[in-house]
Amino acid sequence: MCYNLAVPTIVLGVTGSVAAYRAADVARELMRSGHVVRVVMTRAATRLVSPDLFAALTGNPVVVDVFDEPVPGQIAHIRLAQEADLVLIAPATAHTIARLALGLADDMLTTLALATRAPILIAPAMNPAMWAHPAVQAHVRTLQARGVEFIDPTYGVMACGDEGWGKLADTPTIVQAVQQRLARTKDLQGVRVLITAGPTYEPIDPVRFIGNRSSGKMGYAVAEAALAHGAEVVLISGPTALQPPAGTRVVRVQTAQQMHEAVLAEFDACEVFIATAAVADYRPERVLPTKRKRTQQGWTLRLVPNPDILATVAQRKGERIVVGFAAETDKALQHAQQKLRQKNLDLIAVNDVLEPGSGFEVDTNRLTLVYADGRVEPLPLMSKRECAEHLIRAVVHLLQEKRQQ
Ligand code: CTP
Repeated sequence: MCYNLAVPTIVLGVTGSVAAYRAADVARELMRSGHVVRVVMTRAATRLVSPDLFAALTGNPVVVDVFDEPVPGQIAHIRLAQEADLVLIAPATAHTIARLALGLADDMLTTLALATRAPILIAPAMNPAMWAHPAVQAHVRTLQARGVEFIDPTYGVMACGDEGWGKLADTPTIVQAVQQRLARTKDLQGVRVLITAGPTYEPIDPVRFIGNRSSGKMGYAVAEAALAHGAEVVLISGPTALQPPAGTRVVRVQTAQQMHEAVLAEFDACEVFIATAAVADYRPERVLPTKRKRTQQGWTLRLVPNPDILATVAQRKGERIVVGFAAETDKALQHAQQKLRQKNLDLIAVNDVLEPGSGFEVDTNRLTLVYADGRVEPLPLMSKRECAEHLIRAVVHLLQEKRQQ
């Protein structure tokens, strides 16, 4: 992404909806509000509006085919993907939304959408029955879970005569959404965010350990959201099967003590610390040097407490924003408020792990954000990526408040 360019580049994807003609107005307004616009069209869109119109409006060549090379020798989809500060798809058809959700790369637009690291905004336009269809809504949720944002269609009469929700949002709404999304890509620029994620494994002998059911999904989603806001992200990760988001610096650890050391080494240089890790509270007092053989007798393991990483560093947090998580099974709010005070936090995100869709190993969560000033903000059940986005926005506000003090 080209954060350093004064003029942000918007790649505008135009797909084959009757509303394709309105993309010309969107392109013009985006340019008027100070953006460079580069248009990519699907084949179907070119049957409704000529690429020449967009080329004339934007002053840039329009790309349709994956093999189009407006600048000889430069692979267009990679170059455009890198140049984009934001990819806006307006109007987006049900078909394109499905292709994006599936990760297909069968034309220029879908290929570019896979290759870019810029935020993607989608403004759908289709028949109301299609928009309401469970298949379309499932694809929308899949994309939202990956951080893609939607500019919802409005109510009205369609070209086909049907009435309902499905009309492309109006141009000012789309332009405003682009501006707000772009602003967010920079609101943590220059801020180093340190995140712990995943479980810790506490060895018993060379083959056994004490662990927990944390998958790391919440922490990795927080890392992704912080990156999307322009932060420099350091992720201290316990053992997980997840691929860290590109652009993060990852420090891999196994045990709580290793995680503690890694956090201590990184804490001074960060401005925000978010502890999402499910740290094992206890470890075996002694790690056996060889595998313990099975016997007919019982086995008592003596456990000793691990350091409370979050509480230790939060005691000397200074101007930093320090955020904790609390996974509870009862009296969630009460326990979270207690942890917030005891650990000297600015914010704690609490969830009831016994609630359906809200525990370990699932892709969704229902968080309540509890602030040091007493505010309580319950969030609905949503994907972990969306929870992470809310959390990061809360952190941005706290940072702004702190800087104004
Ligand atoms: N945490 C930590 N180090 C530990 C234990 C917890 O950094 N040894 C952090 C977690 O990453 C989380 C917060 O503290 O952000 C709360 O974790 P949780 O397990 O809910 O709380 P505990 O303090 O361990 O309390 P309890 O298990 O008794 O509920």
